[in-house]
Amino acid sequence: MDAVTVPAAGPGRAWDLEVPGDKSISHRALILSALADGTARVWGLQAGLDVAATRRVLGRLGVRIEPDGDGWRVEGRGVGGLAEPDGVLDCGNSGTTMRLAAGVLAGHGFLSVLAGDASLHGRPMARVLDPLREMGALAVGRAEDTLPPLVLRGGTLRALTWTSPVASAQVKGAVLLAGLHARGTTRVEEPGASRDHTERMLAAQGASVATGPGWVEVAGRPRLRARDLAVPGDPSAAAFWAAAALLVPGGRAVVRGVTLNPTRTGLFRILRRMGASVELVPTGEACGEPVGDVRVEHGPLQGVEIGPDEVPAAIDEFPVLGAVAAVARGETVVRGAAELRHKESDRIGLLAGELARAGVAVDTFADGFRIRGGGPLSSARFRSHGDHRLAMALGVLCLALPQGGRVEGAAAADVSYPGFWAALAGGARP
Ligand code: S3P
Repeated sequence: MDAVTVPAAGPGRAWDLEVPGDKSISHRALILSALADGTARVWGLQAGLDVAATRRVLGRLGVRIEPDGDGWRVEGRGVGGLAEPDGVLDCGNSGTTMRLAAGVLAGHGFLSVLAGDASLHGRPMARVLDPLREMGALAVGRAEDTLPPLVLRGGTLRALTWTSPVASAQVKGAVLLAGLHARGTTRVEEPGASRDHTERMLAAQGASVATGPGWVEVAGRPRLRARDLAVPGDPSAAAFWAAAALLVPGGRAVVRGVTLNPTRTGLFRILRRMGASVELVPTGEACGEPVGDVRVEHGPLQGVEIGPDEVPAAIDEFPVLGAVAAVARGETVVRGAAELRHKESDRIGLLAGELARAGVAVDTFADGFRIRGGGPLSSARFRSHGDHRLAMALGVLCLALPQGGRVEGAAAADVSYPGFWAALAGGARP
C-alpha cells in the first residue's frame, strides 16, 4: 500500500512531538566515527533509508557498526584505514552517501565503485569528482565524469584550495573529507554558507579546522578522537509540522529537541517574514550544535520574495514552503534556487505540477517559482515522484484541502522520516 489518504484537518489541531535524528548529522556521525581512532557510541541516529545506506557502505568498507542498547557502536579504523570492498557500493537514493563517500574513498589506494537508484544516477557529480581529481585521485563517472556510477582510486592526496561553483555542503564535505587524507591544509570556498555539520564535528574530534564567512580549512592527516554523539532532531522534519500548524486554522505545533544551527533554520526565518509566529527556544547542545524546540502557531500569512542569499539555509524546505505559500495571501517568489532542479527530483517543475492539481497557480523559472496564494483549493490526488520531501509536503497540504487529499508514492517518506504518515494522522484535536 503505497498511497495514503489524508483527511482535511479540523480547526485547532495541535502536534507536540519529537522528530527523527538529523539526516545530515547522522551521515556524518557514522562517517567521522569510522575515520576516528577508538569506538564511538551514537544515539538518535536517524532510521531512514538514506542513513542506512551510509551504514551499509561503511560496513562493506570494513567498519563494524552494531546496535548497542538504544544506540549504535561504531569501531573507528582511523584516517585512511578503510578496507577494499569486494563489490559495488550501493548508495540507494542518497546523494549525501555517494558524495561524502567519494571524498573519503579518494583518500584510499584501492578501487571503489559507487552506484545507486535511478534518481541518484541522474544527479550531478562533476562538482565532486573535479576537485578529487585535482587532489590526485582517479575519480571518474558515467557521461564524461558527470553522473554515477562513480569509480575512485586514490591514496595520499595533494592539499587543495577549491572554489566551489555551488553552495553545497555535500561538495564541501567531500573535499574536506578528502583533505583529511592529504598532506597540508585543504581549503574550500563557496558562494553561500552551506550547512556546517562536517566542520563542527571534525573540530570536536580534534581536527585542526578554521572557518570564516564562505570558507573553511582543515589540516590533513589528523588523528581523530572517537566521540560519543547524541544526534539532535532534524529541522527539515520539524518544518513539516511548522507548516501543518500554519495550514490548519487554529493549528499549533511544538517540535522538541532539534538542531537550531543557523545554517539549517532558514525556513523558520522565511516563515516569520511571512507573518508566522515561530519561536526557536534553545534548550542545550549536542554534537557541537545548538539544540532546542520549535513552536509555531497559526496566523495570517503574507507572500514574500526569497532571494539567493536565503536559499542555502532552507535548501531542503522549498517543497513544504510551496504548501505554505499556497495558503498565504499574495505572491511568494523564489529566485536563485536552480539547485532545486538537481535534488531527489526536479523540485521546481514537479512541485509546480503537483500544486496545480489542487488549483494553485504556479509559474516556474529556471532558478525558482512564483506561487499566487490564497485562492480556492480543491481536493487532489498527488504523486510523490519518489521524492521523500515532495511526498511529505503534499501530505501536509492535504490537511488544508476541502475534502483532504491523497498522496501516491507515499512510502518515499521512509528515506528520511519513517513514521511520518502515522504522525500526520495523529496530533491532538480540541
Ligand atoms: C546535505 C546537503 C544538501 C541537502 C541534502 C543534505 C548534506 O545538499 O540538500 O539534503 O547532508 O550535506 P547540497 O549540499 O548538495 O546542497
